[in-house]
Amino acid sequence: MARAQLLFPKDFLWGTATAAYQVEGNNRNSDWWAWEQGDGRILHNQKSGLASNWWANAEQDLDIAAEMGNNAHRLSLEWSRIEPEPSVFDAAALGRYREILQGMHQRGIEPMVTLHHFSNPLWLVEKGDFNSAVVVDYFRRYTAKVVDVLGDLIPKWITINEPMVYIFMRYLNGAFPVGQHRGWTGALGAIPNLLRCHAAAYHTIKERRPEALVGVAKNMAVLQARPGSTALSRWWAGRVSWLFNHMWLDSLANGRLYLPVGRRTIPHLAGSYDFIGLNYYTRFYVNFPPRGGLLSDRWEPDAVVSDGNYGEIYPAGLFQIIESLLPYKKPIYITENGVPDKDDRLRPSFLMTHLREIWRALSFCYPVMGYYHWSLVDNFEWDRGWTQRFGLIELNPETQERTWRESGRLYQEICRSRSLTSRQAEKYAPELLQTIFRGEAPVDVSP
Ligand code: FCB
Repeated sequence: MARAQLLFPKDFLWGTATAAYQVEGNNRNSDWWAWEQGDGRILHNQKSGLASNWWANAEQDLDIAAEMGNNAHRLSLEWSRIEPEPSVFDAAALGRYREILQGMHQRGIEPMVTLHHFSNPLWLVEKGDFNSAVVVDYFRRYTAKVVDVLGDLIPKWITINEPMVYIFMRYLNGAFPVGQHRGWTGALGAIPNLLRCHAAAYHTIKERRPEALVGVAKNMAVLQARPGSTALSRWWAGRVSWLFNHMWLDSLANGRLYLPVGRRTIPHLAGSYDFIGLNYYTRFYVNFPPRGGLLSDRWEPDAVVSDGNYGEIYPAGLFQIIESLLPYKKPIYITENGVPDKDDRLRPSFLMTHLREIWRALSFCYPVMGYYHWSLVDNFEWDRGWTQRFGLIELNPETQERTWRESGRLYQEICRSRSLTSRQAEKYAPELLQTIFRGEAPVDVSP
């Protein structure tokens, strides 16, 4: 019987991704903890509490990741734990991170570490955080400390997670602490400081560990005009797409700051990245005039949309965005990709169809080096609380009990075989036998 196997390279990294605040629990010095206490900020006023209990026992999920056949994991460090007060570093917290990182190496899992993933120490917020130039020096010192204490265990680094999402959610949309603080002034003030923080961290790491690879994790979405729209809408969609998707990377590539108030050069920024981390989730339509917000959540009638209206499932967009990154001439890691899907209805096919786009990119010799699925285990999804479940492993936050989802088993088969196969489709997502494996295996639809 004909069987299809889409094989990936031997050195491809198969991982999952998490963020400190979302999994560790009890991050009481963080701006997010204070934010959560306010009424109406998190859906149903849910609390992160123990989160996925990683501070006490990350190891149980690392065991699961190893069993899943993962050889990589992306995690972040909680700055507010490491530096609970300005210039006071907590040796015990650094020690715990050392233990977790060693635990990864012992299990054959290569860490990729993010220095800033949305959360800040409370004291930094009091100092104005990214709206104040002091942040750059603090970020440099925090990075230096981390590299000195943990650098021998960290081959790959991400400086800042999703800078444009952070700016949007924090300053413009108000869903992140401290809530629509300073609007456009805040947003435009934060962009140059975030870029300076990135450059400072990049050079701090490279001076101490020249062999380390340092990049960013950039959320990119397909942003396009609805088919059949006016030329003006198409032009506008192109501008919005550049602003959200490529402006940040263009700044990193050539050191320029692009803001409506004029262009400037940021010292030591040009070329300060060794790879691009791509976080890909969805596609949005953008229309002009922008009725009901910048992005439209009115999907096409045949679109598959995930839980909580998180967005359309659009695997082809992953390939399109990978192609849009080729001019930067850097290795690409898919540092996040996933779907909120409590009942695991969509995830098996989501996994296979997105990985198939990566396989396609590899068949063109595009430099995609690894894939980190968001996420290993259900975790605290920021302002959506526990309502959006991204885990390959299901978590009951009350009992901390874990249950493998079918998609976890599927990912295990994929990682272990380094491939997508028609057998996996038969078992986990039979509808794909009619699409990506068309003609490769007979479909038995009898009950
Ligand atoms: C990304 C974030 C990550 C998680 C996923 C679902 O934008 O980086 O922390 O919230 O979305």
